[in-house]
Amino acid sequence: MAYKVIQWSSGNVGKHAVRAVAERDNMKLVGMYVFSDQKAGMDAGEIAGIGKLGVKATNDLDKIIAMDADVVLHTALPSLVYGADPMADIDTFCALLASGKSVITTVGYMYPKVYGPKLTKRLEEACRRGGSTFHSTGLNPGWLGDLLPLTMTALSKRVDKIHVREISNFQHYPSPEIMFDMMGFGKTPAQFKKDAERYSFWLSGLFRENIQMIADALGVKLDDIAESTVRELAPADLETAAGLVKKGTVAGQHWEWAGIAGGEKIIVHETVWRMHESVAPGWATGDHSITIEGEPRMHVNFDARWIGDGLQGTAMHAVNAVPYVCDAPSGVKTFLDLPWIIGKGTVHVPEKKGKKKK
Ligand SMILES: NC(=O)c1ccc[n+]([C@@H]2O[C@H](COP(=O)([O-])OP(=O)(O)OC[C@H]3O[C@@H](n4cnc5c(N)ncnc54)[C@H](OP(=O)(O)O)[C@@H]3O)[C@@H](O)[C@H]2O)c1
Repeated sequence: MAYKVIQWSSGNVGKHAVRAVAERDNMKLVGMYVFSDQKAGMDAGEIAGIGKLGVKATNDLDKIIAMDADVVLHTALPSLVYGADPMADIDTFCALLASGKSVITTVGYMYPKVYGPKLTKRLEEACRRGGSTFHSTGLNPGWLGDLLPLTMTALSKRVDKIHVREISNFQHYPSPEIMFDMMGFGKTPAQFKKDAERYSFWLSGLFRENIQMIADALGVKLDDIAESTVRELAPADLETAAGLVKKGTVAGQHWEWAGIAGGEKIIVHETVWRMHESVAPGWATGDHSITIEGEPRMHVNFDARWIGDGLQGTAMHAVNAVPYVCDAPSGVKTFLDLPWIIGKGTVHVPEKKGKKKK
């Protein structure tokens, strides 16, 4: 049996998803939603750069709603980026869920509980109406800073502190919408200040979800999730894959979100983000890391040159979740509810040398 998949949007992550679904024996692409008029009517495979798949992209929501499919891989930008109410994403999820399709998104809402019971209730109600399942995933959040430290705690006798540090250079991330509109890079300090609430709503939402999920999974009652941030301006005009970051505009952001319990920072998520390697030389450089203080003490480093692969990794986490989500009971299912998601069907076993071709 092949799971019938609709791809929602065709940016970096969406194209990776289409390419992978096309290769999987247990999945079949049956539809694609695009926002741009230019892409509507094009073949999904051609948009993804792999030749025709016989699936036409549409920007007609009603057509998507009416389609027979098991799951929608939703890899769009948050509605907030377009100045729309952030709840517009929830409206879209609910329409898809109520039409009987499960939704796997990379846009956020990995642990929707942090936005209050009303939001989760809406999603649950839509799932109930459609007999469908909602799940959100990613790479960070959605793997590096939450699932990996949680996996490591399986070896712990005592945990005093979990400290995750992401160090990313976004020089090669080809999305002006994400870099400039969503994260506020390339803005003058005055422009950034004006929209600071918007950037904070989105970024802090994502990493609050990740900290709260870790805390709940480990049974820690947090008193607060504290947030702090500093920015660095571009020392010169910087060429990046998203476009020019002009001298004197925001080119570095260093955030920390800390889950506090007993007056101490127990779960810390730090992000050191640069638009170019020349930015903020005094900040931490090198690998992403996860440190768990306690007994035993554990420390893992990850090669930070991952952004190209990171977009693919984000897409694959969604694609690999398809069977788990489609086979799950209806409702909102976070990582804490689903079985351990692994890359089933991804191993390429080489043909034995000397084997005769039939
Ligand atoms: N958690 C993680 O680790 C992680 C990592 C990377 C990305 N992400 C998330 O994954 C999503 C996709 O990232 P990406 O790099 O693929 O972004 P991207 O290349 O900028 O593509 C995003 C797509 O959004 C679509 N779009 C256009 N108008 C829109 C609108 N009004 N509302 C919503 N979407 C609209 C476009 O679709 P069409 O081209 O089809 O018209 C565009 O291709 C983002 O939400 C990003 O934050 C998460």
